[in-house]
Amino acid sequence: MFAVYADSFAPADADDPFSGLVIGERPDPVAPDGWTTVTVKAASLNHHDLWSLRGVGLREESLPMILGCDAAGLDEDGNEVVVHAVVSDPDWTGDETFDPRRSLLSEKHQGTFADRVVVPRRNVVPKPASMSFEEAACLPTAWLTAYRMLFTQGDLKAGDTVLVQGAGGGVATALIVLARAGGLRVLATSRDEAKRARALEIGAHEVYESGARLPVKVDAVMETVGRATWSHSIRSLRPGGAIVISGTTSGPKLDDAELTRIFFLQLRVIGSTMGTRGELASLVTMLDATGTRPLIDRAIPMTDAREGFAAMAAGDVFGKVVFTR
Ligand SMILES: NC(=O)c1ccc[n+]([C@@H]2O[C@H](COP(=O)([O-])OP(=O)(O)OC[C@H]3O[C@@H](n4cnc5c(N)ncnc54)[C@H](OP(=O)(O)O)[C@@H]3O)[C@@H](O)[C@H]2O)c1
Repeated sequence: MFAVYADSFAPADADDPFSGLVIGERPDPVAPDGWTTVTVKAASLNHHDLWSLRGVGLREESLPMILGCDAAGLDEDGNEVVVHAVVSDPDWTGDETFDPRRSLLSEKHQGTFADRVVVPRRNVVPKPASMSFEEAACLPTAWLTAYRMLFTQGDLKAGDTVLVQGAGGGVATALIVLARAGGLRVLATSRDEAKRARALEIGAHEVYESGARLPVKVDAVMETVGRATWSHSIRSLRPGGAIVISGTTSGPKLDDAELTRIFFLQLRVIGSTMGTRGELASLVTMLDATGTRPLIDRAIPMTDAREGFAAMAAGDVFGKVVFTR
């Protein structure tokens, strides 16, 4: 079958970061007991796929590995489905994101950039007819991460005020759109004026330069930037507020962790990673019910995947890059 896969890893200083990327053919997958085969109609790209090509989160002995975490397609009975990318141990019960043996598709099990992908039966969620395959394929990683940050870990409710740092990011744009759809007051920061303007267009009520003093203290901050914005995030919270962190794009080491403020204002620091099958189903229902849709930067044939990888590596995207079959 057709597949986009990693055949080798590029060294960190390589001229061509995609030297290990192959657009070619791989054997048809065979579904083990309890698994199902999904015919992929659309899949979307994440930074995770770029890191996989450098060997981050992927072991050499797992190569060749079909890339891709996110997909929507048809199950064996022809039902339209969204694929949940978190594969947990078959014996695991409860929240899959707490399973220490969980993996994301394309880490241990072959990924979604192919004609077909096999996943545990419980890893498919019905796709509503109102949503295109391209839109549905955006949800399983960045959008699910944003949903869990806001509504599970952040426990935010309509009427609360939230700050989203680094408005141009993949997770950050999902946070802005979902927070607005969920009835929150949405403040966002970006270093870039054009990205601040786009943030307003997609649902932010107010935008500020990174690090600017805000006119109000917020109930929660959604952090994916890390070092560059941490101090500002802590200083923007009301007493008892929460910072929810799912990434550290600018680095994980802090100049000032603001520990005094954290204890004196009784702030809560909450980690968040991916989401459960149940949360993916709730996200799909939320989008179906509100008419809100993921932002798609471009949808291109999967045969042109190299173009999508290059655009993401250049930071030249606002929203998701989708590959169609
Ligand atoms: N835990 C999970 O399950 C999960 C899932 C998905 C992603 N992630 C993580 O979340 C993070 C964000 O991912 P993403 O795909 O959204 O990344 P991204 O698209 O590269 O966006 C990151 C944003 O961070 C901001 N930024 C970067 N460097 C900065 C700096 N020095 N100062 C201020 N802002 C800076 C930028 O915002 P502006 O240019 O607008 O200022 C940028 O748009 C990554 O670390 C990723 O690993 C985690």
